[in-house]
Amino acid sequence: MTDTAPEPTLLADYAPFPFTVEQVALTFRLHPQHTRVLSRLSLKPTTEGQPLHLHGENLTLISLSLNGAPLPDIAPDAEGLTIPAALLPATAFTLEAEVEIAPETNTALEGLYMSGGIYCTQCEAEGFRKITFYPDRPDVMAPFRVRIESDMPVLLSNGNPAASGPGWAEWVDPWPKPAYLFALVAGDLVAHSASFTTRSGRATPLNIWVRPGDEDRCAFAMDALQRSMAWDEQVYGREYDLEVFNIVAVDDFNMGAMENKGLNIFNSKLVLASADTATDTDYERIERVIAHEYFHNWTGNRITCRDWFQLCLKEGLTVFRDQQFMSDMRSAPVKRIEDVLTLRARQFREDMGPLAHPVRPDAYVEINNFYTATIYEKGAEVIGMLKRLVGDAGYKAALDLYFDRHDGDAATIEDWLKVFEDATGRDLAQFKRWYTDAGTPRLAVEDDWQDGTYTLTFRQETPPTPGQPDKPPRVIPIALGLLAPNGDEVLPTTVLEMTEGQQSFRFEGLSARPVPSILRGFSAPVVLDRTAPPGERAFLLAHDTDPVNRWEAGRGLAKEVLARMVTEGAEPAADLLAGLEAVVRDECLDPAFRALCLRMPAEDDMAQTLHASGVVPDPDAIHAARKRLQLALAQRLAPVLPGMIASLANNGPFDPGAAAAGQRALRLACLGLLTRLDGGEAATRAHAQAGNMTDSLGALSCLLDAGRGAAELTAFHQRWQGNRLVIDKWFMVQVLHAAPDRLAEVATTLTRHPDFDWKNPNRFRSVMGALAENHAGFHHPSGAGYRLLADWLIKLDAVNPQTTARMSTAFETWTRYDTDRQAQAQGALQSIAARPGLSRDTGEMVGRILK
Ligand code: PHE
Ligand code: ZN
Repeated sequence: MTDTAPEPTLLADYAPFPFTVEQVALTFRLHPQHTRVLSRLSLKPTTEGQPLHLHGENLTLISLSLNGAPLPDIAPDAEGLTIPAALLPATAFTLEAEVEIAPETNTALEGLYMSGGIYCTQCEAEGFRKITFYPDRPDVMAPFRVRIESDMPVLLSNGNPAASGPGWAEWVDPWPKPAYLFALVAGDLVAHSASFTTRSGRATPLNIWVRPGDEDRCAFAMDALQRSMAWDEQVYGREYDLEVFNIVAVDDFNMGAMENKGLNIFNSKLVLASADTATDTDYERIERVIAHEYFHNWTGNRITCRDWFQLCLKEGLTVFRDQQFMSDMRSAPVKRIEDVLTLRARQFREDMGPLAHPVRPDAYVEINNFYTATIYEKGAEVIGMLKRLVGDAGYKAALDLYFDRHDGDAATIEDWLKVFEDATGRDLAQFKRWYTDAGTPRLAVEDDWQDGTYTLTFRQETPPTPGQPDKPPRVIPIALGLLAPNGDEVLPTTVLEMTEGQQSFRFEGLSARPVPSILRGFSAPVVLDRTAPPGERAFLLAHDTDPVNRWEAGRGLAKEVLARMVTEGAEPAADLLAGLEAVVRDECLDPAFRALCLRMPAEDDMAQTLHASGVVPDPDAIHAARKRLQLALAQRLAPVLPGMIASLANNGPFDPGAAAAGQRALRLACLGLLTRLDGGEAATRAHAQAGNMTDSLGALSCLLDAGRGAAELTAFHQRWQGNRLVIDKWFMVQVLHAAPDRLAEVATTLTRHPDFDWKNPNRFRSVMGALAENHAGFHHPSGAGYRLLADWLIKLDAVNPQTTARMSTAFETWTRYDTDRQAQAQGALQSIAARPGLSRDTGEMVGRILK
């Protein structure tokens, strides 16, 4: 651990910056080792007698002057520099600084760095201070002028192109912005170009910049961008506001993508796609992230965050918007089910462990550690609840008011809630707890039927989370439907508003005891604790009119069955198999939906569920039970599988749309089951015939599950050598599908492969991220999985703290398991914590996980 625990930053300590920055002018003289950054800041005090603090890290100060007069006595410390109040004029002044930085050796990928010969930047959250001295905080917004001097052919920055000549270019961004939205790119790039005419008639050039040779894999991203721009106009009334929109793809990137004003920078895996190199999952992610970053132009850029505690203000809202977009572009219920799966797998997991924190935290050590599922996914859920509570018209009125009132502001969650209160007249004091209180509420429900009256009684309780022992009740929107015993809907979806710790709702005038469909559409991010009477879940799986709850019924049933198989050695239950068979055979149902129903709960999800019900999960038993259930399902479906696989095959040209992707998903789900029966015969054929990456990788996964696929792996590597994104898949698939006993060995061997370029975050994640996702393998009783990951995290921390810290969350569930496993995991975590010189990022995470 770091020698002295760093002091946390507190929400309660917020104070405005005592100066305004009226203009920023930057000049970059690019050089891999000796880049010079010249800055001219026009500053104006807003409070008298305050010193000027500027952030700055790892900068070599060359010169500093105020109104043209050098300041030779000011020396920066590790965090920046301070100019005493006594040296500052009482009115506007100009501060000029020249610093030197070395992009080539910047392996942390924060600030100005190089990726495959391309200069690029990443400034969110606090990377700008690694470029020059500046008040690097989101509430300081200023217009930027940027001049780039370099012999690279393409020179880009934010805003509009102003002028250029051989070896230089100037950009002007008219919209005041915080420094975290600054970006610069210089490289040998080619553009895939198109244009979009905004609703007020401005034809806007759109460019996706990539390395030469990649330009034929940009069409899908461009199409997604054009659709996003149109959607934001139609649904939110938001128009693009610059003369050009640029996207750049780089191979080395810590996260998915970044919404820099007018110049989004993307991890290349979220841009580049062609049928033979990208899977349907890749296409879907590209569409979503292109939309997400574009939507930030209004929710994040035009209206930004006052401080980083308000991160969900832009991220929760922008995720909510990208989810709405995706459900408009594709199938709404399928999209919702996928979002629920992600929420549970990532956010519920976080909320139930040592890293639980509120959607709006009130303290952090390293802000990079708070780009979490809670801020993003739960942040989006909270907005979904708000929309459900105020209705579509109320939501629209509130959002119009938000854009109207706060355009150009650095806003807070209080501002956000106030527009809803003002637009709808609703008091949101209790609702605010969703932002301030961590933890996933558990919602217990009991029902009663008497004299034609049906009563549902709910009890809510939120388990304690770190630093928050007591949780007052929250307002929970519970979408409910009631079905008659014949399957007819007797109460269409109605939203109950629960505000008390315990609350009953009565339904009168029913002729028979109804079957409740509770939490339709997953109307609140809670765990529903219902001991369903026998047959209820199977009934809902067959009859629920709400597709999300129909899926949820099957899911709940599968979890019940798996839990009994794990804890009591029960047999796979016939009602589950029959229910799934009916769904799979029902050709009226969307293939994507049927594929989701066939997908068994993940092993980590089962461990989470068992742990929450007081059982110590045994990863090996879960793994074995899941396989037995799949085998039983395969046997049950044996007569239909070959026919379905044949009929779902498509020999036409590849179509990345949702319908065709759904067919491929169902076909691969069937192939996975058939592999349990034929040992991989059909998968071998499917792999040989695969005409796209989805089918190829899907069949290869089946083969690896069946203990085959060696020849196919070799051929795959040979064919795709040199294509980084596809080789990532080659690494990942082997780790994900390794037998638990062999996982550490397989992963270790892969780390010795010449292509294991571990400093590239995508490549590192393709092995080490997959290692942690192989549940039974990672939690192998030998502790080999834990140790392997810990050793590599230690190694990576020295070059890239941010990605290391993020990946340490693989350990966040360690206290769920038996004492032997706990001891192994704890030892691995302690070996990281004990490392001299450990980064603040990783130190904070490992410290919180170990607590
Ligand atoms: N703001 C980015 C997004 O959500 C995520 C990001 C954060 C990227 C920090 C890089 C660094 O779109
Ligand atoms: Zn975002």
